Amino acid sequence: MARRAALDYPPLMMDANIAKRAAAYAAADLVQDNTTIGLGSGSTFLFVLDRLAERIAKEGLRVRGTPTSIDTKNAAEQKGIPLVDLDQVERLDLAIDGADEVDPQKNLIKGGGAAHTRERIVAAIADELVVIVGESKMVDALGTTFRLPVEVLPFGCTHARRRVEATGCRTELRQKGDEPLVTDNGNWILDCTYDRIDDPVTLAARLDSMVGVVDHGLFVNMTGRVVIANDEGSVRILS
Ligand code: A5P
Repeated sequence: MARRAALDYPPLMMDANIAKRAAAYAAADLVQDNTTIGLGSGSTFLFVLDRLAERIAKEGLRVRGTPTSIDTKNAAEQKGIPLVDLDQVERLDLAIDGADEVDPQKNLIKGGGAAHTRERIVAAIADELVVIVGESKMVDALGTTFRLPVEVLPFGCTHARRRVEATGCRTELRQKGDEPLVTDNGNWILDCTYDRIDDPVTLAARLDSMVGVVDHGLFVNMTGRVVIANDEGSVRILS
């Protein structure tokens, strides 16, 4: 199967939207009154904001959100979702976020939208990370349909790149137009092609300890429930 390049999504088709919306709405319905939640990033997550705005208007749901990206912050503000800064909260009741791949152990590849560093920081203080995906994101092994994004400091990037490649992958510096794409944190992204990632725990540990690497999109042992929807809009939840 051809690997999707991050930020290189095919034009959205109606059925892809149905799955995204169904998973997102089901997850937004898990949000309880008077809670503070992590707001993920990406096209699936945007539907969560729609549903939360609906619930605020119809049910008077009291919820505050901590965004994982500037895009999400802007979208949440537009929809009138109350926000709170990450440093103003001790913990979050829940974080909801999309993913690019989910394996049978609920390990993830994230970062197609270059927001994975903030997404991990937010998820780390949440009581549970709820992941929302269409059925097509479920894979037997990570790295088989999507490249692993690794955020690196621009300073000394050539050396960081060499270290990352020593883990057994090819890397490509993510571009925006003719320039390297710059993350919300002012860094660059290497998209890493592995044959498949059979041992995400060990790979994550290697990348965690690598000089010049800010963070990577391997989310290992972090996921609570996974809300999965198909193109007909049916939802199942993996606990
Ligand atoms: C953002 O960097 C990502 O981690 C997204 O959560 C992930 O790429 C899923 O995005 P879509 O919902 O747009 O597929």
